[in-house]
Amino acid sequence: MKNFAFSLPTKVYFGKGQIDHLTELADYGKKALLVYGGGSIKRNGIFDRAVELLTGAGVEVVELGGVEPNPRVTTVNRGAQMCRDQGIDMVLAIGGGSTIDSSKAIAAAAKYDGDAWDLVLDNSKVADALPVFDVLTLAATGSETNGTAVISNLDVPAKLALKSPRVYPTISILDPTYTFTVSRKQTAAGSADMMSHTFENYFSFEPGADLQRRFGEGLLRTIIDNAPVALEHPDDYEARANLMWTASHAISGIAGAGLAVGWVCHPMEHELSAYYDVTHGEGLAVLTPVWMEHILSDKTAPYFATYGRNVWGVTAGDDMAAAKEAIAHTREFLFGTLGIPSTLREIGVPDASNFEVMAASAEKRTLGSFVPLDKAAVVSIYEDAL
Ligand code: NZQ
Ligand code: ZN
Repeated sequence: MKNFAFSLPTKVYFGKGQIDHLTELADYGKKALLVYGGGSIKRNGIFDRAVELLTGAGVEVVELGGVEPNPRVTTVNRGAQMCRDQGIDMVLAIGGGSTIDSSKAIAAAAKYDGDAWDLVLDNSKVADALPVFDVLTLAATGSETNGTAVISNLDVPAKLALKSPRVYPTISILDPTYTFTVSRKQTAAGSADMMSHTFENYFSFEPGADLQRRFGEGLLRTIIDNAPVALEHPDDYEARANLMWTASHAISGIAGAGLAVGWVCHPMEHELSAYYDVTHGEGLAVLTPVWMEHILSDKTAPYFATYGRNVWGVTAGDDMAAAKEAIAHTREFLFGTLGIPSTLREIGVPDASNFEVMAASAEKRTLGSFVPLDKAAVVSIYEDAL
């Protein structure tokens, strides 16, 4: 097991009615920027409840709506300017990963004299940030319990992560009932995303780290058990609660500590989002089985076989046979059970014209992975996934 640092400074209030804890924001200042997306929080009543609680506690609310899925740096710059102009003390995100990510970047950019994209390109420039809070409405990214914000710049185009200990949410409110209204498509994509986070941590040649590996298998089994229930019965509280808590820990660091050697499907997917505005979880779902098949070898087979035996109950004694069964189960779950489209074309990538340039960019982050992928390997995965 590698050395690691582990810190999870976010206070989580989990369960029904926990939004009442928003009154605690009064301890952090008098004026909050309330950031949200395309309006789902206005339709399901969370917006009104949040404003009622905050104003009741003496916190003035300034609104910034319209955060895009795959959030843009232009919106971050606009939010940061609002914070500076209007004397904002803190940023409250209500929504999914896109809203929380842009709120983190806004909080950092509000304290930076320049373009927010500078902070994305050079995370060491994040010297300070306003406190960030969130009410999560979609179980997927784990942004509620980490210090990452993934931001898109359409001018490059690029989608990259701002990572800083300064942007961890101070408080995250996780009420599973808020995810009852999440669509079938987003429930499936979110489940694929948390699965991918687990895979990115789980597949490693690092010896030991037994607890982290068992955490990973537990996360995967929880998704496999609960995502189909949530798809069938969107208001099943236990299924939604299990997915929500799993999402928070698939990427909180607890399952990857001492193991992580670099992520691979994520950098490849972020290029798809940057170029084609692909839904993150769908892009990951399409790439994942292709990636697994691409790197399957005598060296990796035992790792896929262990995954198959411990997560899917595969019984084949031969590692290569068990590994192939595990990958087949993964494919069937993503495209059959979850119903996610299985090709890049179906999710908005029309052709291979940008694969070379996308792969050149992804390669900067895929060479340090479980099995390093150079540009040619990334192009080949994109082509097989098309
Ligand atoms: O914008 P609104 O109207 O709220 O609608 C959203 C959006 O259209 C909708 N939605 C959210 N909660 C809902 C709801 N609809 C009905 N009822 C609710 N309760 O869902 C749509 C997608 O929302 P979005 O926030 O974009 O989804 P998600 O949470 O999957 O976030 C995706 C973004 O997070 C990044 C992705 O790259 C992508 O940009 N990631 C962030 C990570 C992190 N911070 O650590 C890690 C991830 O790997 C990922 O890269
Ligand atoms: Zn992800």
